[in-house]
Amino acid sequence: MAQQEDVFKKIVSHCKEYGFVFPSSDIYDGLGAVYDYGQNGVELKNNIKQYWWQSMVLLHENIVGIDAAIFMHPTTWKASGHVDAFNDPLIDNRDSKKRYRADVLIEEQMAKYEDKIQKEIEKAQKRFGDSFDEAKFRATNERVLENQKKYDDLHHRFQEVMNAPGGIDLEGMKQIILDEGIVCPISGTRNWTDVRQFNLMFKTEMGSTADGASTIYLRPETAQGIFVNYLNVQKTGRMKLPFGIAQIGKAFRNEIVARQFIFRMREFEQMEMQFFIQPGTELDWFAKWKETRMKWHQNLGFGAENYRFHDHDKLAHYANAATDIEFRMPFGFKEVEGIHSRTNFDLSQHAKYSGKKIEYFDPETNESYTPYVIETSIGVDRMFLSIMCHSYEEQLLPDGQTRTVLHLPAALAPVKLAVFPLTKKDGMPEKAQEIINELRFHFNCKYEEKDQIGKRYRRMDAIGCPYCVTVDQQTLVDNTVTLRDRDTMEQHRVAISELRSIIEDKVSITSLLKKLL
Ligand code: GAP
Repeated sequence: MAQQEDVFKKIVSHCKEYGFVFPSSDIYDGLGAVYDYGQNGVELKNNIKQYWWQSMVLLHENIVGIDAAIFMHPTTWKASGHVDAFNDPLIDNRDSKKRYRADVLIEEQMAKYEDKIQKEIEKAQKRFGDSFDEAKFRATNERVLENQKKYDDLHHRFQEVMNAPGGIDLEGMKQIILDEGIVCPISGTRNWTDVRQFNLMFKTEMGSTADGASTIYLRPETAQGIFVNYLNVQKTGRMKLPFGIAQIGKAFRNEIVARQFIFRMREFEQMEMQFFIQPGTELDWFAKWKETRMKWHQNLGFGAENYRFHDHDKLAHYANAATDIEFRMPFGFKEVEGIHSRTNFDLSQHAKYSGKKIEYFDPETNESYTPYVIETSIGVDRMFLSIMCHSYEEQLLPDGQTRTVLHLPAALAPVKLAVFPLTKKDGMPEKAQEIINELRFHFNCKYEEKDQIGKRYRRMDAIGCPYCVTVDQQTLVDNTVTLRDRDTMEQHRVAISELRSIIEDKVSITSLLKKLL
């Protein structure tokens, strides 16, 4: 685990050193849980967004996109339930003055029991080798059974307080923290305040105070921009059910426990799609979207074993099914995307609060009804983080040297081709520029002439550039160059005229999309 934490720290500093992610307002020592994307980060992020957008909007005839404003009428958030219920349960430690999410403290305690079980299993696995029977060990080992019971009891109590009839049982939550002896990681004491609810929405004011400014919110999810535009899009696009509306945009949450770099941010970006369907068909569509979205993730080639579904035990009052797609990050399996069957809750609420009739007339059944919704909701930044984590490698080379390489999927890499003149003379720089001038219309190219070729390769490996080309003496004679592959480091000679056809298909988003069909 400590080793994995080390790797994660290295990834964070790599992101800064190579222009992927910077702390926001860095010269002022940053702003908590807010980050800026640098010259390479923005390209990678744009490619992720393109891969998602095109898989939704280009590959589905019945999905269209919108781009709604961040500011919305304040009643939107009353109707959606965010004003009353978008809360985190917080607790303070009186000695360290640090604030924590009470539910996270309890979840971490459960994770400790799971870790203990896992360690016993790993120890036994080493001891017994191939003859190890995990199921039998789990059922019989005393220490495993003891920790499993502690985990189960805690899980059961946690479920009870989270699902209490009148909303989360805050007193019950504090009691669990006391009973489990959970201490503040900073002060090491159990001197806790009561648990309180804290709304996560950022507020601001619109208009001058003299005009009677109104309080508005920065949207905490992009989804509501889609719900309030349902009628506009359905009518102007003459959309027939089932159909979807996709959107990519910023969302804001005043997260208290903002940790793990860009995993939990206060300003982040979501890619959401609401799929409007006939009531009664939602569980079939839910299953279909689970499959479609998992395929989209696995299509990147990171290995099916690094993904899993986590079905929710606790459903929001409006949902009748929900799951997360989790990815194996260096700090464990973590949610990257949520898929929710939201019934007709949001559209009905907006109909109630706006007084507008938000229904669909189904020409096939001659009935009007409020459509049900399946939502797929993925965080761009979390996706970015999962890609960085999986791609990062410190590789030991046969000659004993190491290189840091990002094995980014070529279609997502910020730079697709780097072109180097071997030396700065004999017309090599000009020839290299000529190649770039030709290819830059087809994919992102970069010219580099500083330092030895070896160093230039390393810099390109570190930003995940899949191909490098070197212009040398022979190029001036026969118009061929050496083409080097990032992952294998193999080089071979190819004609300049062939470069585009060799590279373009491998680095285009289209190549990824085709594999989805
Ligand atoms: N409309 C549904 C919704 O917003 P969510 O599970 O709260 O659901 C969906 O968020 C996705 O948005 C998450 O799976 C995650 O990828 C991303 N996300 C949520 N909060 C985030 C945060 N504070 N920082 C970064 N990404 C976040």
